[in-house]
Amino acid sequence: MCGIVGYVGRASATGTNVAGDHQALDVLLEGLRRLEYRGYDSAGVAIVADGAIEFRKKSGKLANLVAEIEARPLPDSLTGIGHTRWATHGGPTDANAHPHLADDGRLAVIHNGIIENFATLKAELASKGHTFLSDTDTEVAAVLLGDIYRAIVEADAGTEAQPLSKAMQLASRRLEGAFTLLATHADQPGVVVAARRNSPLVVGLGEHENFLGSDVSGFIDYTRRALELDQDQIVTITPETVEVTDFHGAPAEGREYTVDWDAAAAEKGGYPSFMEKEINDQPEAVAQTLLGRSDSRGRLTLDELRIDPELLKSVNKIIVLACGTSAYAGQVAKYAIEHWCRIPTEVELSHEFRYRDPIVDEQTLIVSISQSGETMDTLMAVRYAREQGAKTVSICNTNGSTIPRESDAVLYTHAGPEIAVASTKAFLAQITAAYLLGLYLAQLRGNLFQGQIKDILADLAKTPAKIARILENSGQIKELARAMADTRSVLFLGRHVGYPVAMEGALKLKELAYIHAEGFAAGELKHGPIALIEEGQPVFVVVPSPRGRDSLHAKVVSNIQEVRARGANTIVIAEEGDDSVAAYAEHVFYIPETSVLLAPLLTTVPLQLFACELATAKGYDVDQPRNLAKSVTVE
Ligand code: G6P
Repeated sequence: MCGIVGYVGRASATGTNVAGDHQALDVLLEGLRRLEYRGYDSAGVAIVADGAIEFRKKSGKLANLVAEIEARPLPDSLTGIGHTRWATHGGPTDANAHPHLADDGRLAVIHNGIIENFATLKAELASKGHTFLSDTDTEVAAVLLGDIYRAIVEADAGTEAQPLSKAMQLASRRLEGAFTLLATHADQPGVVVAARRNSPLVVGLGEHENFLGSDVSGFIDYTRRALELDQDQIVTITPETVEVTDFHGAPAEGREYTVDWDAAAAEKGGYPSFMEKEINDQPEAVAQTLLGRSDSRGRLTLDELRIDPELLKSVNKIIVLACGTSAYAGQVAKYAIEHWCRIPTEVELSHEFRYRDPIVDEQTLIVSISQSGETMDTLMAVRYAREQGAKTVSICNTNGSTIPRESDAVLYTHAGPEIAVASTKAFLAQITAAYLLGLYLAQLRGNLFQGQIKDILADLAKTPAKIARILENSGQIKELARAMADTRSVLFLGRHVGYPVAMEGALKLKELAYIHAEGFAAGELKHGPIALIEEGQPVFVVVPSPRGRDSLHAKVVSNIQEVRARGANTIVIAEEGDDSVAAYAEHVFYIPETSVLLAPLLTTVPLQLFACELATAKGYDVDQPRNLAKSVTVE
């Protein structure tokens, strides 16, 4: 939800940057390219050059901004800010694109978030004679900041060393809502000031240069040293210094950490899209998430959880909170956690949770699942639960992000950076991590014998190779996807853990190919959705293993027959060796044998491949589907 990048570098005696000849514009555009997954309605940059602000901004994807800069080049500069937008206030037009200027064009501001009291502030500023060029809340913040800055500069006649930082403190105190704001002023080259409340911001630490980014990918080409910030903080970067304060100017400190992946991990690696790369990364994502989390005797060693084991033993209810694909990972995990730990487990969409007066207390364990660690709905739900006394564990893929930071414990998924907006590898890694958590609880509470846990872990360890086999044999499902490029509606059916898999399959198709798709519990079909079936209606069916609970398999096979009898074109995902389905299926895709509970780690993969290939056949951008953003930092 909006990508933000800031840069300051020091000029050498020869006028180049001592840190390595970086130009602000190059750093900003590279950062925006990596952050574009956060929003792509418009993009813009502002730099400080020759005592003035120069800026370019353009609606549409970053490529439009790049073309604009080629047509109207910008001068050299070592100070700048850049933005890629997911529109909230005001449509995706050139005028509403960031940066927004104030203080007679000498101040440039970019913003991620929503300023809730913008209307009041706008009226107040308008009454002082200020005018506005856009419909955005950001411009209101820019004008407010400019107004305060001017007052400071005029009042103290130049004694305030960092008037922009001071102005940012004062302005931030007046803003309500969520914001990361970055500002640079023509009178202060070599300085970028940022404020953060409930929106993401990290500092990149360089040599004679420093960076700001919505996440570390904004500067990963230049440094892997990063500084985490807290809520309600202001950071002022110059080439040699990074100064953090609260909104009242009291000094504060960030936490420094090293990013454990490099720029190459965030590249396409020879695949035509990030989505294809990430689908193919999945064996590695699952393997990495399992790595180092059990000992040779098959005991889970989740030392990183740091929650008192006695407390975990006393848990009498688990609530999983998440949105989108992550919520489906939670739904899969529920089956396993309840089965292994015998703890009642609810899965709730984060944005619904807070508003239903949920029953939460000290014996409730909240497990939030978020790839980005920044999803505002989930963050707010976690905060609410903590206020009620619950213990919170975050399953997250992004080191240093807000949700793990505000949780009692974190279990990181090690899927590596996920760039494509629709989630794939993070989903499998989340299921894996949630399973580890479930097994750990079962181990602590004695619900499973150690031998059982060891066997499940051994099964889990075999899944990466099985996923790799599905990927190696992806030709058949891709061919079907291409043949179905004109399909207008697809249904997905599943039972038990296959049900959330069906919903995830439908979600992928909606997100990537803009096709109407629904996932149903196979048993629910006869209670209504079966009315949708007509001649030729494509229906995917996720069939459980025949080696598992017999009744489950038999029931799903009956469901296939029910839809087929009504003319459906049945496409079945079944386990190798399951001969019972072939007679009722137009197409069968076989996955390697696995236990019922681990099957989602395999059955999801053909559905991802199908959606990705079909969308590609339709000519769509699978990495940046329309209207979406990867990291949704507004409620
Ligand atoms: C957005 C993305 C989805 C993602 C969801 C939750 O809507 O488009 O792909 O599943 O957010 O994101 P999170 O980072 O919390 O997992």
